[in-house]
Amino acid sequence: MFATAALLAAGPSLSAETAAWVEEVPFITTPDHVTLAMLELAEVGAADHLVDLGSGDGRIVITAARRFGASGLGLEIVPDLVARSEASARQAGVADRVQFRVQDLFEADLSKASVITMYLLPEVNLRLRPRILALAPGTRIVSHDWDMGEWEPDRTITLPVPDKAVGREKSSRLHLWRVPAPVQGRWCAGPTKLEMTQRFQTYQARLSVGGRDHAWSGRLQGAALLPAVDAGYRPRLAWREGTLQVEAGAPGLPTGTRLTAC
Ligand SMILES: C[S@@+](CC[C@H](N)C(=O)[O-])C[C@H]1O[C@@H](n2cnc3c(N)ncnc32)[C@H](O)[C@@H]1O
Repeated sequence: MFATAALLAAGPSLSAETAAWVEEVPFITTPDHVTLAMLELAEVGAADHLVDLGSGDGRIVITAARRFGASGLGLEIVPDLVARSEASARQAGVADRVQFRVQDLFEADLSKASVITMYLLPEVNLRLRPRILALAPGTRIVSHDWDMGEWEPDRTITLPVPDKAVGREKSSRLHLWRVPAPVQGRWCAGPTKLEMTQRFQTYQARLSVGGRDHAWSGRLQGAALLPAVDAGYRPRLAWREGTLQVEAGAPGLPTGTRLTAC
């Protein structure tokens, strides 16, 4: 039903390829209170550049600009929805800060985004996952309803949506992820050796420093490596431009020490 509505809204000029996409991920809007909750969950602010993947009528990008001062880009495969978004942006007085593009979201360069929002489908999220994991550490991702499989969200909230048009549940789930830094591998600073094993935002570390070995586990919050509360040795490290920097709490390793891949 929704696919048909989107196709009608899009007019007769859709290519077969575009029509197939619309069939796969139809145009359904995120309700306004859910849009606001998505932006709050991502802690969107004036310094952010938000990209909505499959931006529909543009509401998420426009609200991010109007209410939170962010700049934004909407990627949408249906041309009429892009035209509608541009008109709404002008009406909302944010046309100077937002842009809408007729583009397949799988072909877009996402590297400038500090926040990505999406209301797609589980299998589409999974196909996007490798590209999202390759984005800058700390990039926030918020997905309406659908998760990313084994990559567990950092946070999930549920909101009532009494008039929800799809599914049996009259609620929406919002998931937040922070892209974790790529820390898997071996890191060295002189005779100091650190072996890191990573699975999405969790890690296990083995450090050999000053003739002593330490093992602990923890969680990545973007570029920050936080030790588990019950870890015996609890160093705080941070990924900085391809190195691991000691921030605090690492006996034997002075603050500011940089370990490089080795
Ligand atoms: C469920 S709607 C969400 C619209 C908007 N983000 C919102 O939350 O209100 C999904 C949108 O993705 C668009 N879409 C589907 N496949 C796409 C693709 N490959 N590239 C870009 N947009 C796509 C659809 O046309 C539709 O407008």
